Amino acid sequence: MTWLDLTRLAPMERYKLLTAVVIPRPVAWVTTQDRAGLVNAAPFSFFNLFGQDPALVILGLEHHRDGSGPKDTARNIAETGEFVVNIVTPDLVGPMVASAAAYPAGVSEPGVLGLALSPSGRVAPPRIADAPAAIECRLLDRLRYSDERDIVVGEAVGLAAREGLIDTGRMHVDWAGAFPVARLFADRYARLEEIARHPIPRLTGET
Ligand SMILES: Cc1cc2nc3c(=O)[nH]c(=O)nc-3n(C[C@H](O)[C@H](O)[C@H](O)COP(=O)(O)O)c2cc1C
Repeated sequence: MTWLDLTRLAPMERYKLLTAVVIPRPVAWVTTQDRAGLVNAAPFSFFNLFGQDPALVILGLEHHRDGSGPKDTARNIAETGEFVVNIVTPDLVGPMVASAAAYPAGVSEPGVLGLALSPSGRVAPPRIADAPAAIECRLLDRLRYSDERDIVVGEAVGLAAREGLIDTGRMHVDWAGAFPVARLFADRYARLEEIARHPIPRLTGET
């Protein structure tokens, strides 16, 4: 057994270990707009859903490693209070990763990469047209535990989904085998292929 005192490691060492242990992580391909309406897209895998009432979506946005301050996504969310989480299927991994390149502020990744956009229903930032689902979010809180990281807490207020993905009568989602991609670590991703069912046992008297 190896035991490590994480509090004594350098932040980058903690990052390398923990992001390789806490896997898989979902990918939020986040679209935002700056004050002038320029659309930004970037992926974030410090991301998950944390409840349904309110429906909380949380992102961990670290500042640029070269010390140049917050990423465009963090600045846009702070300024406009809105963002859209686009869900990434394996066919979208190429453009999703391409949008993570360090484009300067003022450059629109969807523009550079030729990504089609579609209007959102409840927030100003558009969604990525080819994403199978997109969650429209409004900023609730920004938590700051360090000068180099923003934890963004958003409320999910709208869901756009490709035709046929959602059965709104039963509130069922059918991915038809084409599940969102799972991020492992560094440049490694996985497809969800073997799905097993494990119902929670009902205890006596439970309804
Ligand atoms: C799959 C993937 C996941 C990422 N997750 C994060 C993350 O959780 N937090 C973060 O700060 N950067 C993350 N990045 C890096 C950002 O996407 C990258 O810094 C990007 O250039 C930020 O763009 P922006 O300045 O337009 O917001 C990730 C990159 C990839 C490819």
